[in-house]
Amino acid sequence: MTESRTPLAGRFVLLGVTGSIAAYKAAELVRLLTTAGADVQVLMTPTAAHFIGPLTMETLSRRRVMLDPLELLPDHRIGHIVAADAADAILVAPATARWLGAMANGLADDIVTATCLASPAPVVVAPAMDGDMYAHPATRHNIERLRGYGYAIVEPEIGPLASGQTGVGRLADPARLLAAVEAAVAGKPVRAPDPAARPPAIDRAVPQDLAGWHIVVTAGGTAEPIDPVRYIGNRSSGRMGVAVAEAALARGARVTLIHGQTSVPLPDAAQLISTPTAAEMRTAVLAALSDADADALIMAAAVADFRPKQSAPKKLARAAGLTLELEPTEDILAEAVAVARTQARPPVMVGFAAETGSLDRVAEKAARKGVDLLVANDVSEPGSGFGTDTNRVTLIVPGSPPEAWPQMSKSQVAHRLLDRVLAVRTDAASR
Ligand SMILES: Cc1cc2nc3c(=O)[nH]c(=O)nc-3n(C[C@H](O)[C@H](O)[C@H](O)COP(=O)(O)O)c2cc1C
Repeated sequence: MTESRTPLAGRFVLLGVTGSIAAYKAAELVRLLTTAGADVQVLMTPTAAHFIGPLTMETLSRRRVMLDPLELLPDHRIGHIVAADAADAILVAPATARWLGAMANGLADDIVTATCLASPAPVVVAPAMDGDMYAHPATRHNIERLRGYGYAIVEPEIGPLASGQTGVGRLADPARLLAAVEAAVAGKPVRAPDPAARPPAIDRAVPQDLAGWHIVVTAGGTAEPIDPVRYIGNRSSGRMGVAVAEAALARGARVTLIHGQTSVPLPDAAQLISTPTAAEMRTAVLAALSDADADALIMAAAVADFRPKQSAPKKLARAAGLTLELEPTEDILAEAVAVARTQARPPVMVGFAAETGSLDRVAEKAARKGVDLLVANDVSEPGSGFGTDTNRVTLIVPGSPPEAWPQMSKSQVAHRLLDRVLAVRTDAASR
């Protein structure tokens, strides 16, 4: 009987992406694999997430990207073990010099290596790097060791490299990689056809569990004027707050997005209120609460703690020096909590705390501020905080031990946070 299905139809293929300039080509690989009928799960090292956004890979693969070997699935199974057990093939493309070394030595501290170690599936490796890196005896040695494990190596091609040189090191053409994966699974049965044995796919029909809700979100950084040209600002991009607003909209909520400076597109479907300074943000937040119809206030904005006591009406001329006298800004969250407490049906109050270093202070901060939930993150950690697509946060629920969440895309953090907001609201209603 002739086989009418393509070799990848119904197969579960893992695509491991590491931190090479060629990582952008991984988006094309997902498209080729899915067009060939494969069910694709993307695994990315934290460095890869600097080169291509997990959101892009998530959207193309229709699966949450796995970024961390510590990550658990929503049902608490260990993510990389489930993926490893169900995989029909693993394609690592592009594979960095660092990853080849880690894999050759079995160092399981990134999601791609940990998954390969845990899987009996065939592995196809496509190195991509600068020509000298590729020629180095260490790299050659690591590649030979991977061949020794039975891994198929798809050699890179000759061409212009990111370093400006021309040489061997360009990621092999995606069509060659697809052919290598097809060859790796040829003649083998599908290992885990039951979708329940695989990590869950994203349900396209997002549950409308926030329909009828009004959620007020703050995002971005405030800018406190020194003069008409200069200001005291911060490095917030607004990504986290915008991710919360988008997730709430997707789940059916009406969203008011009060924003300072942002460097990401804002969702048109939200009511947008621009508030450049902390004082303007305070006014907008208190006004939004005054209608007493908000179900949740999620304060993800990075609000300045201090502002210049006086802002010069005209641009200050260059001088030998300048001493600014600063005064504290209002504590918007504390004021909002005080207003909410006077309401018959107070909104769920959520604060964010950006720290650098230890998060020891945040539990005390959550209790002091009187919030229902506090999301704390160490913005000095790689893959966390300002300007990144990912975040690693600790959720503080006053009276309970802190919950350290694994590194996730900001969209995943947003959805998980909204699940908790919903739970607080449901809890309050049942009391
Ligand atoms: C712009 C840029 C491009 C890079 N491209 C490559 C590459 O193609 N191959 C490689 O092995 N390393 C490359 N690197 C270095 C890796 O990103 C670095 O070794 C990193 O630690 C790899 O992390 P990962 O293997 O955990 O993803 C690049 C670095 C930069 C800044």
